[in-house]
Amino acid sequence: MRLYLRKILILCVVLVFLWFVVSLVDEFPVKKTSNKYADQLESKIMQLERKLDNQLVESGKLLERVKDHLKNKQDSASKQLENNMAFVEEDPVLPVLVIACNRITVKRCLENLIKFRPDKETFPIIVSQDCDHEPTYQVIESFTQDDPTITVVKQPDQSVIPLERAKVKFRGYYNIARHYKFALDHVFVKLGHEAVIIVEDDLDISSDFYEYFLGTFPLLNSDPSIWCVSAWNDNGKKELVEAARPELLHRTDFFPGLGWMLRRDTWASLRARWPAAFFDDWLRNPENTQGRACIRPEISRTYSFGKVGVSKGLFFDLHLRYMQLNMEYVEFTKLNLTYLLKDKYDHAFTTLVYSLPEATADEVMAGQGGEGAVRVPYSTAKTYQRAAKRLGLMEDFRSGIPRTAYRGIVQCYVRGRRVYLAPDFLWTRYDPAWG
Ligand code: UD1
Ligand code: MN
Repeated sequence: MRLYLRKILILCVVLVFLWFVVSLVDEFPVKKTSNKYADQLESKIMQLERKLDNQLVESGKLLERVKDHLKNKQDSASKQLENNMAFVEEDPVLPVLVIACNRITVKRCLENLIKFRPDKETFPIIVSQDCDHEPTYQVIESFTQDDPTITVVKQPDQSVIPLERAKVKFRGYYNIARHYKFALDHVFVKLGHEAVIIVEDDLDISSDFYEYFLGTFPLLNSDPSIWCVSAWNDNGKKELVEAARPELLHRTDFFPGLGWMLRRDTWASLRARWPAAFFDDWLRNPENTQGRACIRPEISRTYSFGKVGVSKGLFFDLHLRYMQLNMEYVEFTKLNLTYLLKDKYDHAFTTLVYSLPEATADEVMAGQGGEGAVRVPYSTAKTYQRAAKRLGLMEDFRSGIPRTAYRGIVQCYVRGRRVYLAPDFLWTRYDPAWG
C-alpha cells in the first residue's frame, strides 16, 4: 500500500511537472516575440525586394533614355559635320553688325546696306551703338522703326576706362575694343548666330557685297586654315588692282578688317583673350589667330568715307580716299572658289611665283622687261619697303607681316602686269622684328 501510494505521488509530481513545462512552453514570451519578429523581418525583406525590383526597372528605363539621348546627340553632331557645306549653303543667316558711335552719317552706311540687301531674312541688320550719342541713336531708330529685320542695341558700359597718362591719347582705341567685345557677344552669345559680317559706320558697300560674303561663306566653313573673309584690299588703289578681274580673290596672312566675316567658334576662341585696345593689330598677330589666313578680294567691296575718326584724317588723305570700290556685280555664289582652299592654293601659288622672271621695282615702274607677270625679290625689311614704296604699296608691317602678304608674298597689278614681291630666301615664317 505504501509502495502504491509512493507510485501515485511520483506520478502526480511528474504530471505537475509536465503541466508546468507545457504551460511554460505555451506562454514563453521570447518564443512568441521571435516568431513575430521573424514575420516582420520577412515582410520587410519582401518589401525591400519589391522596391529593389521597381528601382531596377526604373534605372533600366533611365539607362535606355540616356543611351537614346547620347545616340541622337552623336547622330546630329556627325550629321552636321557631314552636311556642313550643304547646311550652310542651303539656309544661312548672315547678320550684318554695324558698329556705330557718334556719327549721324551712319545714315549713309545704313541706306547702302538696305539698298543692296537681296534678302531681309538672310541678312538681318544689327546696329550696335556705343558713345550714348542721342542724335545718332535717333537716326538709327528711324531705320529700326519700320523694319523688324533691323535692330539696335546700345553698348551699356559707358564708364571711363582708367588709363595711364601715356595711353590717354589712345582712349578711342580702348573704347572701340570694349565696344567690339560687347557687340560680338550680343550677336553670338545673346542672339546665337553662327556667323556675322561686321561693318563700321563709315563704310560704303559695293552692289555685290552680300553676294561676296554669301559666296565665300562655304570657304570659311570648310577650310579650317581660314578664319576670316574680308571685303578689303589694303593695297586696293586704282593703280594697283586689275580692273578686269573683279571676281579674283586671294588668301592673305594680314587681317584686312573693314567689312569682314567671322564665325561663332572663332569668336569663342578669341573673346577670353580679347585685347583692351588696338583689336585689329591684335588680330594681325598670328599667335592670336593660330597662324590662319583670311580671304580678300582683288577689288575692295567696301569704301571708307570716314575722314573724321579715331585715327584722324591723315590716313584717310594718304590712302583711304584713293581706294577703289568694286563697281561690277560678280555672282560669287555661282563661281567655283575651291582654288582658294589651302590644299590647292599654297603649292600652286608658290610654284607660280618662283617660276616667274625676276625684275626690280624700278624696271616695273619704267615698263621694262616685257608685259608678263614678274617677281620682285626682297631679302630684308628694308629692301621690301624700298620696293613697296617704289610700286606705290603700303610699306608698313604688323607682327612682321606686310599688308596683303601671303606666305611672305605681296602681289599687286601695276602698269598692266601682275607683280609679286617675294622673299629671295626660303620663307618659313614672318619675323616680328620687321617693321
Ligand atoms: C581704325 C580702323 C578701324 C578699327 C579701329 C580700331 C581704318 C580705316 N579704321 O579706326 O577699322 O576698328 O581703328 O583699331 O583702318 N567707335 C566706337 N566707340 C568709340 C569710337 C568709335 O564704337 O568710342 C566705332 C566707330 O563707330 C567705328 C569704329 O569704332 O565704327 C572705328 O572708329 P573710327 O572713328 O572710324 O576710327 P578709325 O580711325 O577709322
Ligand atoms: Mn573709320
